[in-house]
Amino acid sequence: NTRVLTGITTSGTPHLGNYAGAIRPSVQASNLPEVDAFYFMADYHALIKCDDPQRIARSRLEIAATWIAAGLDPDKVTFYRQSDIPEIPELCWMLTCVTAKGLMNRAHAYKASVDQNIARQAEPDDGITMGLFSYPILMAADILLFNAHRVPVGRDQIQHLEMTRDIAQRFNNLYGQGTDLFVLPEVQIDDDVATLPGLDGRKMSKSYDNTIPLFEGGSKALRSAVKRIVTDSLEPGQPKDADGSHLYMLYRAFATPAESRIFREQLQAGLGWGDAKELLSDRIEQDLAPMRDRYADLMAHPERIEDILQVGAAKARALSRPFMARLREAVGLRTAV
Ligand code: TYM
Repeated sequence: NTRVLTGITTSGTPHLGNYAGAIRPSVQASNLPEVDAFYFMADYHALIKCDDPQRIARSRLEIAATWIAAGLDPDKVTFYRQSDIPEIPELCWMLTCVTAKGLMNRAHAYKASVDQNIARQAEPDDGITMGLFSYPILMAADILLFNAHRVPVGRDQIQHLEMTRDIAQRFNNLYGQGTDLFVLPEVQIDDDVATLPGLDGRKMSKSYDNTIPLFEGGSKALRSAVKRIVTDSLEPGQPKDADGSHLYMLYRAFATPAESRIFREQLQAGLGWGDAKELLSDRIEQDLAPMRDRYADLMAHPERIEDILQVGAAKARALSRPFMARLREAVGLRTAV
């Protein structure tokens, strides 16, 4: 069977980018035959950028409810909270010991923070924690502990997957003794989504405050956010460049190819941006509206989600515990009995 695994950081409210980049493809993958799916709330990762305990707990609930509302079947999927799996930070340490510092120096998120510091003439590492610096190693531990073959993510995670493969290869070479301890994972990216733009055209991201919320605030919040998407100033009647427009990119992430073609022709024929936004909202709503009631219902019953996550943690640990014993032995640590 193919193992598919992905996680979402619990530091914010799920947005359209999370949905199209990770939630939707992961739910689809979990419904395929011969797939074992592992999906989790990355709350250890959340500690890197969020020191508000309530926000982390709230976000974890929202993400879990979103996944289930989007069709994830907890009986078929191993669905868990990262912090319920102590083998993840344990493996993270083993991997840290074989990862070159130079590899981490090249990580986009770390480099972006250094560049910002330099731009404002601060010390290059000002405010940068070891958590941020070694973030990709924690992610490698998530993936390698369950020997995932495929990882559905948005384009912003490609580098992390490359680093995961690097680290896995190094570990295999050092400790595999001819057999591979770790599977080298493949990234899975939906070309129609890749990087979903936010309201201002940059990548939709909590850190840019340019997101369109998925369920929070209901259809009203979604429609009012769509109205705020930045466009050029062409008037109705003037032909629009569909391929250069963020609105069209968002539309494509939800519509069928045939629907997208029609939308594109309408824009080229001079459809006004106001009307285009209405059509975009309608198309997104068509997909999301049926999930919204389920989401609200789950959010009203956190204890149900807690039960599901407890079962998921037990399923995950049934695999991670014996595998960790094998890894401990491979590196020369004694396994406690
Ligand atoms: P995170 O929480 O930032 O995002 C979760 C998922 O949503 C995708 N995504 C997007 N996709 C398309 N367009 C966008 N604008 C957009 N914004 C976010 C992300 O690519 C991601 O797939 N490090 C990860 C979480 C993680 C993980 C893992 C993922 C931890 N361990 C192991 C896979 C495997 C992160 O911070 O994603």
